[in-house]
Amino acid sequence: MNRAGLVADRRLAVMTPPAAPQPETHLSEPPADRSTAESSRPRFVLRRARTPDVRRILDLARPLVERRVLVAKEAVSYYESLQEFHVAESDGGDVVGFGALHVMWEDLAEVRTLAAAEDWLGTGVGGALLHRLLDDARELGVSRVFCLTFEVEFFTRHGFRIMENQEQVDPEVYSELLRSQDEGVAEFLDLARVKPNTLGNTRMIIDL
Ligand SMILES: CC(C)(COP(=O)(O)OP(=O)(O)OC[C@H]1O[C@@H](n2cnc3c(N)ncnc32)[C@H](O)[C@@H]1OP(=O)(O)O)[C@@H](O)C(=O)NCCC(=O)NCCS
Repeated sequence: MNRAGLVADRRLAVMTPPAAPQPETHLSEPPADRSTAESSRPRFVLRRARTPDVRRILDLARPLVERRVLVAKEAVSYYESLQEFHVAESDGGDVVGFGALHVMWEDLAEVRTLAAAEDWLGTGVGGALLHRLLDDARELGVSRVFCLTFEVEFFTRHGFRIMENQEQVDPEVYSELLRSQDEGVAEFLDLARVKPNTLGNTRMIIDL
């Protein structure tokens, strides 16, 4: 099957209404208006990342890092932040997408390192992962989620808006955030030292 056929087939399959979600492994939630009876199986599931996933995540991230779409990070950073990650796993057992939620403050988190494998783009993997990460944010008590991205339309469709400036950041919180060593926090604060990394990216935020 050629790649177009494969993608089309996956799109149909992901449209299948999912079975009841399990506590840890969840079937993908397709958009309601895409329901079809053509396939009985969803083609990917979401689950928390596990240590053996990191090598695959690194492989999938590498070309995106080279294109400066994702921030370059050492392998050890992926292991250290593993609990922040969810992955999408195909029914063949491959990791076909991943994404993380990083808490920054009492009310604030960042969606980071969100990506779908190239041949799975447009099949709902990214949207499903994003919704899972936003659910995590709600569960953790976070009310605003930031992201830095080239994918403005994708995030806009999911309720994010472009951040005009340092809106809603209390000066006291700002000075606390300044103490962070985290690159994502620096990007949120729009600090000069991270400007070369953020060139062309858009700072976006969603109120949950
Ligand atoms: C952003 C990104 C994660 C989106 O992933 P994705 O899996 O392609 O996202 P989705 O499939 O959920 O949505 C993309 C498109 O597919 C469509 N789609 C989603 N589910 C679908 C389905 N079941 N059937 C048909 N189409 C579907 C969506 O409507 C959307 O279409 P549109 O662009 O015409 O509106 C992906 O483009 C990516 O990896 N980008 C590079 C990394 C990056 O920039 N990450 C963000 C910053 S961390």
